This record gives sequence, structure tokens and C-alpha cells, in this order.
Amino acid sequence: MTPGDEALELARQIGDMEQLQLIGVQGYEGHLQHIHDLEERKQRCQQAMQILTQTAEQLRVAGFPIQIVTTGGTGTAEFCADYEGITEVQPGSFVFMDTDYRNALGPVYSNALTILSTVISRPTPDRVIIDAGLKSLSIDSGMAEPKGQPELAYQPKGDEHGALSWKQEGVSAELPLQIGERIELIPSHIDTTINLHDTYYAYRDGVIEAIWPVEARGKVQ
Ligand SMILES: Cc1ncc(COP(=O)(O)O)c(C=O)c1O
Repeated sequence: MTPGDEALELARQIGDMEQLQLIGVQGYEGHLQHIHDLEERKQRCQQAMQILTQTAEQLRVAGFPIQIVTTGGTGTAEFCADYEGITEVQPGSFVFMDTDYRNALGPVYSNALTILSTVISRPTPDRVIIDAGLKSLSIDSGMAEPKGQPELAYQPKGDEHGALSWKQEGVSAELPLQIGERIELIPSHIDTTINLHDTYYAYRDGVIEAIWPVEARGKVQ
């Protein structure tokens, strides 16, 4: 909903419901998260914070006890946290990171999640097929990247399969990848990729130390 009067109208409707108590407002400036230029991202975020905090104040003046003003994502949380009147920030992607955020923010947070795939065939010397396709990696923010192998490019080749080839066009040298080899892929968009999976495998130094369910999976309604 739009801030200001429309938010106030909703607050009044909530106020009429005995079972509900309005204690806060949330804004998420999702359209600003991936602005590459830091100064522009900061400036536009501050404009958004002004609108959000003004709405919170408008509701307070109308008698609603607004204590929580929550906002922010991985690209903006640091600016939101500094803005007067914001009581909480809610970034999420920074925990794992993805290539889209890395491209926008630079190496501020490190990557901590990959999709593990296996080379299952070598149709030609310069192309291998892996068992990770559209059901394993989302592509709404571009292609996943093979971890530690910047010379390779990933392309989904259907629901269950994908291909790895040389990133540079025209190179026909043999790929140094064998059937059975494991390849880690860094997702381009962590939110939509995690939602494709049931389980996290938490590992350190090659040892799986914990297995966690992706509890929010499939809970979209
Ligand atoms: C309402 C809301 N808050 C916070 C977040 C987390 O943002 P980010 O993934 O940019 O850290 C999201 C992500 O989509 C969101 O929709």
C-alpha cells in the first residue's frame, strides 16, 4: 500500500478490530537494493526512510502507538540503521550472499552457500553436463557461477540438467572436468534458489556438521 493517508486508513480499520493491536509499520525498499552506485543507493534509501518515518509519525499523531518501524535489506540496511526513527532492520541475503548482490555491493559480505552438482556426461570435449538445472538454481537474476572457476560459464539445459563450457567464446580447448567430478555453483539469487530445496548441508573442512531443513519452503500463500 502507499504510505501516508492510505496507511492511516488501514490503521483505522485495524483499530476497529478488537483482536488486533497495531504496534508498528514496515517498509521494504526492494527496488533500491541492487543499485550499484553506493552514493545513489544511500541517497535514495534516505528518501525512502523519510517517507516511512513520516508515515509512522502520521499514525502516532492519529493516536496509534507505533513502536516498531522496520525496514531494509542487504543493500540498504546500513543506511536504514543510521536513520532516525528506524527501530529495526531486516536484511536476509547477506547471510549467504549471491552473485547479483556481489555485483552490486562488491565484496562486502562473503558467499557462504553453493549448490553442489556432479558432472554426468561429456558430450563434447569443450562442454560437460551437470545434474543442476532449473529445479536447482533460479535464473531470474542471471546465471549461477561455478565457484573458483571464473573461466567457466553455466547454462541451464532444462529442469534437471545444466551445461558448463568456456566463458570466452571461440575457445575449443578440452575442459578439464571429468565425469563424476563435483562442481559448486554460486546462486545468482539466493532467495529464489533456496526455495527450490528441502535441506541445507552445513559443512566445514569437507565434513558435514549439521543438516537443517529449509523450514519456510513452500509456505508462500
Ligand atoms: C519484506 C522484506 N524484508 C527483508 C527482506 C530481505 O532482504 P534482502 O534479501 O535484500 O536482504 C526481504 C527480501 O525479499 C523482504 O521481502
